[in-house]
Amino acid sequence: MLTNTVLVVGPLNPLAAAGLSAVARTLHLPEGPEQAAFLDRYAGEIEALVLARAVDAPFVDRFPHLRIIANFGVGYDNLPTLHCAGRGIVVTHTPHVLTDDVADTAIALMLMAVRRFGAAERYLRAGRWATEGMFPLTGSLKGRSVGVLGLGRIGRAVARRAEAFGVPVAYHDVAPVAEFGYAYHPTARALAEAVDILIAVLPGGPATLRMVDAGVFEALGPDGIFVNVGRGTAVDQPALIAALQSGTIAGAGLDVYESEPGVPQALLDMDHVVLLPHVASGSHATREAMSRLVVDNITSFFTTGKALTPVPETPNPA
Ligand code: NAP
Ligand code: 8YV
Repeated sequence: MLTNTVLVVGPLNPLAAAGLSAVARTLHLPEGPEQAAFLDRYAGEIEALVLARAVDAPFVDRFPHLRIIANFGVGYDNLPTLHCAGRGIVVTHTPHVLTDDVADTAIALMLMAVRRFGAAERYLRAGRWATEGMFPLTGSLKGRSVGVLGLGRIGRAVARRAEAFGVPVAYHDVAPVAEFGYAYHPTARALAEAVDILIAVLPGGPATLRMVDAGVFEALGPDGIFVNVGRGTAVDQPALIAALQSGTIAGAGLDVYESEPGVPQALLDMDHVVLLPHVASGSHATREAMSRLVVDNITSFFTTGKALTPVPETPNPA
């Protein structure tokens, strides 16, 4: 049992919360009016934050003895990483353990958008099969090609899955990734021009902000399908809505949005868009693995001085 004090911020998975309580003194931040008094009382004792929501630099600076932040998720655009690096605070995340489920979700969204399975199921449930006959014919994966935007851990897993469907794969990333034989395109727009189905697996943050814009949708074209399992902020969402409304692209499959949990009514109103509520990593097995990794990072840091999966901007202390 560690003597260090951990503060849980946000609605953490119960497995992670229970795991933390078993290894450390674990407090939970109240979100109501009592928060200010709670912070006045405990902030000076906190050495670790476990995050299940976004925080900013002034929040982090409430904790003078903070040494580690463990984020529940692989994306860490919900916290001020560079500010933490400046203060010598280690930030950890949950890479790898969610890769397969998120890649599976991208493929599911691609198939649902291309074959319109969601709309077909709604047609059946509304009793229209019996009264109106067969559901209209749809597009197909036949003769199509897939472009992966962001060939990282998840992007590579998406590419491997797409290969199994027999479709050619191309990609755009910051730079070509030598060990992969897929065709590289130097911009998102060039990739969109070259493929029929564009799958975005980009992180959030300023570097990718609205990177998928109107020009990318124009390049993707009227038969094009756009899938996003990365971050909604990497997409110009009004431009995506306009492209879907005007037929500039044929359809989309989305798990993430610009300002979650808000989903614009314009997207809800369109039948050629598949919408999921940010569920790509939301299986029991994956959330259990993410929970274990969060707890193991905290335990390892306080017992050995080294975290298991620090983000590159805040490596372990030398
Ligand atoms: P990753 O391995 O870091 O992959 C991200 C890839 O995007 C990297 O290859 C990165 O290149 C590239 N990239 C970054 N900035 C770019 C830019 N401006 N232009 C082109 N490429 C750029 O991360 P991952 O594990 O695959 O996860 C990717 C993201 O998916 C996460 O950050 C998270 O936001 C999102 N995600 C969503 C869900 C969900 O539930 N929907 C679940 C998990 C993750 P460099 O390595 O060279 O920077
Ligand atoms: C969420 C994700 O973290 O890992 C990420 O970056 O987007 C997801 O896995 C998860 O939904 C927990 O909130």
